[in-house]
Amino acid sequence: MLHVSPSDLAASSIEALRVLVPAALPAAGYVITAETPAHVPAREALLDRAMGPGRVRKSSEVIRRGRLPADGLAFAATGLDQSLLGTLRLWHVAAGTRDGAPVAALLLGPLAIEPSAQGLGLGGALMRHAVGEAKRLGHGAILLVGDPAYYARFGFSCASTARLAMPGPFEQHRLLALELKAGALSAAGGLIVGTGRAAGSRATRALQLSQRVGVAA
Ligand SMILES: CC(C)(COP(=O)(O)OP(=O)(O)OC[C@H]1O[C@@H](n2cnc3c(N)ncnc32)[C@H](O)[C@@H]1OP(=O)(O)O)[C@@H](O)C(=O)NCCC(=O)NCCS
Repeated sequence: MLHVSPSDLAASSIEALRVLVPAALPAAGYVITAETPAHVPAREALLDRAMGPGRVRKSSEVIRRGRLPADGLAFAATGLDQSLLGTLRLWHVAAGTRDGAPVAALLLGPLAIEPSAQGLGLGGALMRHAVGEAKRLGHGAILLVGDPAYYARFGFSCASTARLAMPGPFEQHRLLALELKAGALSAAGGLIVGTGRAAGSRATRALQLSQRVGVAA
């Protein structure tokens, strides 16, 4: 769990956040935790508010649909009153192939911050936490589709994505990647496809149940 104190954010930002979401921002700041099943209804409502109903038609959604996020890489940012302020998940994919073999990577998204709390550093905090965890867990590269002007600050670029494609309409200049291990995406080319565990399998239901009752799995 990442604790972020007010000193981590500009004083003016903290003050603005208190004004905008007085119930959501406790004096101690906010926390980034692993997403749990209890976050799901608020997460879906937040995604609808932040991204609109068209979010389910994105090419990234084709990759995510029916699958679970990568283990340990689904995050929730909450106020200390437990209200959801931000969501970010990462998914197992094959970033095309190299010499005929799938290239393992992660797809990042969706990232969304509660509209009344945007522009105050929460998105950045979630991104840095997620990238750090993905690296700690030994993943080689992260892909995403998003605004280069936002994601460049976290090291993402289109330098290694020119030969990759999404399974649906996408803008090539918005297909970005960050290599966590040097050369992880070199010579990778082709279609990005989901490779994560299917949601709804017996193993998945058991995992979800264990999480609901608080059993370590
Ligand atoms: C994009 C989003 C996640 C950023 O989170 P946030 O908490 O608002 O962002 P932060 O406070 O960490 O960063 C703010 C900075 O990012 C910049 N920024 C935000 N969105 C941007 C965008 N789409 N393109 C370029 N810069 C952007 C701001 O101008 C600000 O810049 P500054 O630091 O130079 O002042 C958030 O605004 C959001 O949820 N938007 C709606 C959903 C969405 O678009 N998700 C991303 C899909 S690709």
